[in-house]
Amino acid sequence: MSINNEKMSSKDTILANVLLVKNKIEKTLESTLPCENTWPVRLHKAQRHALLSPGKRFRPLLCYFVANGLGQKDNSVLLVGCVAEMVHAASLILDDLPCMDDAEIRRNQPSTHVAFDESTAILSATALLNHAFSVISKLDNVSDTVKVKLVDLLSYTVGSDGLIAGQMADLSNIKLNTSLEEVERLNTLKTGALFDFSIESAAILSNISRNRKQYLSEFSHYLGLAFQLMDDVKDKVMTQEDASKSVDRDIGKATILAIKGSEQSLSILENYLIRAKKALSKAQLTNLNTFDVLLYNQFSFLNMDAIN
Ligand code: IPE
Ligand code: IPE
Ligand code: MG
Ligand code: MG
Ligand code: MG
Repeated sequence: MSINNEKMSSKDTILANVLLVKNKIEKTLESTLPCENTWPVRLHKAQRHALLSPGKRFRPLLCYFVANGLGQKDNSVLLVGCVAEMVHAASLILDDLPCMDDAEIRRNQPSTHVAFDESTAILSATALLNHAFSVISKLDNVSDTVKVKLVDLLSYTVGSDGLIAGQMADLSNIKLNTSLEEVERLNTLKTGALFDFSIESAAILSNISRNRKQYLSEFSHYLGLAFQLMDDVKDKVMTQEDASKSVDRDIGKATILAIKGSEQSLSILENYLIRAKKALSKAQLTNLNTFDVLLYNQFSFLNMDAIN
């Protein structure tokens, strides 16, 4: 077998494993939610519509593979990853509402408020958020101390110092003289907070040194920034079909793309990814090849050197 073939076959094996884990995530998400004929049926149907629609499941994959690379193989990491996905789904339901981004398509389907109605959408987002906390409280093989740490981290992540603060800032983000630092702060809250939860929760479940935690936190910071900037590029350059969601939602907003232009934005994005990968390599996970594949899958459409 030539060297190239060897490389290819190990990449294929990793990809097959990623798909296997993604399937496990789908099954776990499905089984943790009340079934759709549970009263009130409309509310549970709406929650399932939002959560079980075909997302990339990047946050639970991150949680799972970070924990795996730290030697943690317990089922609890799958469930905690799904907690991140529940919060993510809740945030997307709210983000799509007419009073926020007014987006009618999400994951190639009508957004929750379109498929149901606005009141059901708001209630189902609130219910999903609450459900996320209850999944943590019921984790098997996890001590009460660790559960409290996870609940504390999640409430900070979603709260008015985290994701909600970011969404709030995003809604009033129409100034054209906004600085790069201000947009980065917004993106760190709006998107980075949940990346931080996904990765830090894996570190908490794996009980690692403060140093390694710090490198993982740096990895998460730059990955979150890269992910939101890539999403902003998608909003501008992709069609609704290619993005699987409504596009052109950022018109008039001070995104990095809007204030720096496409050429500079791509080099900022490349820089985020280089920093993310550097921090990750210092955290000494045992499965860095898997992260090469995961990151390549997420960012490949940008065709940049930093993802190879
Ligand atoms: C979209 O997240 C919202 C952002 C924070 C950019 P994803 O791109 O992960 O969306 P899904 O989960 O795959 O639909
Ligand atoms: C949303 O950012 C981040 C959330 C916290 C929901 P966007 O508004 O850019 O996400 P999309 O493009 O609708 O997925
Ligand atoms: Mg938004
Ligand atoms: Mg949006
Ligand atoms: Mg977007």
